[in-house]
Amino acid sequence: MDTILIRKVTESDTHSILNNIFTRNTLVEVESQVKDSINEMAEGRRIHLVAVHEDKVVGNILIIKEQHVLYSHRCILKDMIVNPAFQHKGIAKRLFEEGCKHLGEINCSHVVTTCRSNGTENFYKALGMTECGRIPNGILEPWDENKLYNEVILYKEFLK
Ligand SMILES: CC(C)(COP(=O)(O)OP(=O)(O)OC[C@H]1O[C@@H](n2cnc3c(N)ncnc32)[C@H](O)[C@@H]1OP(=O)(O)O)[C@@H](O)C(=O)NCCC(=O)NCCS
Repeated sequence: MDTILIRKVTESDTHSILNNIFTRNTLVEVESQVKDSINEMAEGRRIHLVAVHEDKVVGNILIIKEQHVLYSHRCILKDMIVNPAFQHKGIAKRLFEEGCKHLGEINCSHVVTTCRSNGTENFYKALGMTECGRIPNGILEPWDENKLYNEVILYKEFLK
């Protein structure tokens, strides 16, 4: 979509993220995450991008650098969410591709993520990620009668 802008998150996005992306969360939780993102982006430890349509946040991606010395070249991809009204328009793919362009800022070459084994892994594979393992019953949803899912681990390596 031409009308979608992908950019780094700002504090003024907080209410729009709460209303359109993290609808299960509280304002305090979203405020805290946005503040952490702004601080950690300045310190080269995180990339937090949003997709914006007419001042409304309709997509979100969070990429967090691993802190352990052995994994400092790796980052975790989290909170990849597109508002249902804007799905299937290539927005998640744009968020991922744009996020990966910023990997140099956090000095990372490997992006790692996990997801439910419910078909979502095919979304990450469509982004070019490779499955490298599964954890049986690795995800538990406390809001849905403790429903369990097998967890799929995926990665993408960016060679220099
Ligand atoms: C998964 C999600 C982020 C996809 O967002 P989107 O903007 O609709 O995705 P895109 O339009 O950019 O699609 C990118 C590619 O993934 C594929 N894809 C999209 N959703 C998919 C799904 N649920 N399952 C399998 N493949 C999917 C598309 O066909 C497309 O493939 P292509 O490039 O080969 O045509 C969105 O459906 C969402 O927010 N879901 C709820 C939260 C979620 O599941 N997040 C990720 C796991 S934690």
